[in-house]
Amino acid sequence: MKSSDTSAASPAVLRHRHVLVTGGAGFIGSNLANRFASEGHDVLIYDVLARPGVDHNLEWLKKRHPSKISAVIGDIRDETAVADAVRDAQAVFHMAAQVAVTTSLVDPREDFEINIRGTLNVLDALRRRGERVPLIFASTNKVYGDLADIELEKTNDAYKPRDSAIRNAGIGENRPLDFHTPYGCSKGAADQYVLDYARSFGIPTCVMRMSCIYGQRQMGTEDQGWVAHFLIRALQGEPITIYGDGCQVRDVLDISDAVSAYASAWNHIETVQGRAFNLGGGPANAISLRQLVSHIEDIIGRPVETIYADWRAGDQRYYVSDTRLATQELGLKQPISWLKGVAALAGWLQEEKGLTCLTSSSSRLQSAEVLS
Ligand SMILES: NC(=O)c1ccc[n+]([C@@H]2O[C@H](COP(=O)([O-])OP(=O)(O)OC[C@H]3O[C@@H](n4cnc5c(N)ncnc54)[C@H](O)[C@@H]3O)[C@@H](O)[C@H]2O)c1
Repeated sequence: MKSSDTSAASPAVLRHRHVLVTGGAGFIGSNLANRFASEGHDVLIYDVLARPGVDHNLEWLKKRHPSKISAVIGDIRDETAVADAVRDAQAVFHMAAQVAVTTSLVDPREDFEINIRGTLNVLDALRRRGERVPLIFASTNKVYGDLADIELEKTNDAYKPRDSAIRNAGIGENRPLDFHTPYGCSKGAADQYVLDYARSFGIPTCVMRMSCIYGQRQMGTEDQGWVAHFLIRALQGEPITIYGDGCQVRDVLDISDAVSAYASAWNHIETVQGRAFNLGGGPANAISLRQLVSHIEDIIGRPVETIYADWRAGDQRYYVSDTRLATQELGLKQPISWLKGVAALAGWLQEEKGLTCLTSSSSRLQSAEVLS
């Protein structure tokens, strides 16, 4: 089925052929699995449950879709097990990864094995099948490096590019690749392998170079998933450590919009195969860490303690996706505003994790929703 409406269902359900989501117990993977199972697809999750807490996502999925979700608890480095999972897939969404820059600096070899060898295991299993099975890959803005050449100015609480074209539109896909940190190298290499398997072997692949995705089912930690992490700390009444001056800017995208983009890439695979897209909230959802903390204070109704520490390796002062290509080619709708999305995530965390605010949070949450 082809459609420019990204809310439309994904390609028609084929009996006995599953949608494979590697890393499907994780934040983005579990949301993708939920979407496809809700549309009637059989979904096979392949995940080693490496990230603490993601087993709850898997339980949630199985409870919600008992006849649609099955899971293989396996490592993406296991070539044979990966090939088994790929064998009957009608489409593959490859999310499984070592996801943190910090961890990659501690153990670059493991990061390499999971992110490069793991991706090659998936790609090569597809190549050996000899069928045109779509694969959509979760890449990252880190493939563009630290962007230190972009001249910035600092306003009160955020960096802004001096160049008005970048300020208005963000960073486009024509930006040269420049891998920094082992994580940047491993995801960047995997990104290039995925694109090349379209070129060299005709496999319909597509790459999403994502900025910061946030939302329900995110197990945010200090090392990855900062929007959820900041909220969890604030809701627990704990201080938040900010690495750098807190004025660094990212464009944030709600998970529901990210899932729609992935579903749409599958829908439009004939036109988007072999291509990479920058996926994020775009300039309208570009926020600094300080601005997020300030919004969280509005939501929970009390000040949040922040502690400042040194900059982290490879941290970009400014990254905002130019989403025009993805919007046009994938038919994306206007993303959810960050004010509304972050307030909704705070509400979900309170309910799901039993995190309570010390003040009357629910009325604040509602007023934050009205803000947008
Ligand atoms: N969340 C973001 O903002 C963001 C931004 C850019 C790129 N990405 C990429 O998107 C993908 C999904 O990220 P996420 O935020 O959902 O992270 P996540 O940590 O919630 O999910 C990753 C999943 O992969 C699994 N996994 C890790 N190592 C594995 C291995 N060796 N074998 C099998 N499974 C393994 C984990 O158990 C986890 O369930 C990753 O590839 C990540 O690099 C995410």
